[in-house]
Amino acid sequence: MLVLGIETSCDETGVALYDSDGGLLADALHSQVAMHASYGGVVPELASRDHVRYLLPLIHQVLQQAGRPLSALDAIAYTAGPGLAGALLVGSAVAESLAMALRIPALGIHHLEGHLLSPLLAEQRPEVPFVALLVSGGHTQFMSVSGLGQYSLLGETVDDAAGEAFDKTAHLLGLSYPGGPALSRLAESGDPTRFSLPRPMMHSHDLNMSFSGLKTAVSQLVQSQPESARPHIAASFEQAVSDLLCHKAARALSATQMKRLVVAGGVGANKRLRRELLALLEPRGVHVTFPPFHLCTDNGAMIAFAGALRLAQGNRPEHPRGFAIHPRWPLEDYALSWGN
Ligand code: KG4
Ligand code: ZN
Repeated sequence: MLVLGIETSCDETGVALYDSDGGLLADALHSQVAMHASYGGVVPELASRDHVRYLLPLIHQVLQQAGRPLSALDAIAYTAGPGLAGALLVGSAVAESLAMALRIPALGIHHLEGHLLSPLLAEQRPEVPFVALLVSGGHTQFMSVSGLGQYSLLGETVDDAAGEAFDKTAHLLGLSYPGGPALSRLAESGDPTRFSLPRPMMHSHDLNMSFSGLKTAVSQLVQSQPESARPHIAASFEQAVSDLLCHKAARALSATQMKRLVVAGGVGANKRLRRELLALLEPRGVHVTFPPFHLCTDNGAMIAFAGALRLAQGNRPEHPRGFAIHPRWPLEDYALSWGN
């Protein structure tokens, strides 16, 4: 089965070709980060227009790379939600119309299902079941993953996502969008113990988390401290986020009695977080996996892969579907729509 995957939920146009026998044949990505940087965040209307500009050329590119014609496709999988409505519509419109013209199924995939399954695309694929820590600009969640469609939410942030906290804090420190990588570079020369920042909900008896109080604490420090203290503020912030995530990860693993943790999402690139998760969990016999960075962040490969698994399981979309998008979409509703 040859599946074309299309991801346009936010600020990345991702297109890939996945073959159930040959694996990932081609994978292309156009990032809009530079375009949005001067606005300090994603501008939805600009994002949609840029997807319009890049989607068809990227589809041509992956077909050419893989040496396959359009007529070889068995299905098209696209991100149907959650995400920015206009951006999702671009992917949905192209996928549904192309599929109709080719008389093949179009599968609307949940963006988080893509992220949760993406570790299985890595060369060293983790065995299921595992606990997934999804830490991106939009989500911070612990999920237990036991197979396709078998996900249960263990806990999540009650306010900002961890990546969002990184981006907002970076902005307070005068760094440009997206601030996560810049903040972590600044933190390298800082002392993480210099300022004691709050760890909201760290000891709550559940797996929920909170990050919004951190940026308020940082904003007070930025006002009261000299410019030279900024690396220490960055390091202290990063330490607080890392402590929170490590503590809750350990709790999630003991609550589920699982021994495998898979970290996905852009914040999973953070070196301090990686180091500290390994240092805390490996001595407890937990196998911690970080998929390659290009699979952690938004991409078309994870959508093509999820589509191929859905097809293999016999899932077929109902017709007529129209341009089906769900800007807000609980994962449970999605799983139910496939009968999981
Ligand atoms: O998964 P992702 O590419 O996009 C979605 O949000 O879906 O994640 C982007 C987020 C941004 O908030 C970015 O600042 C953060 O990941 N990020 C990092 C690092 N690299 C990216 N945060 C902390 N440390 C990093 N090294
Ligand atoms: Zn994402």
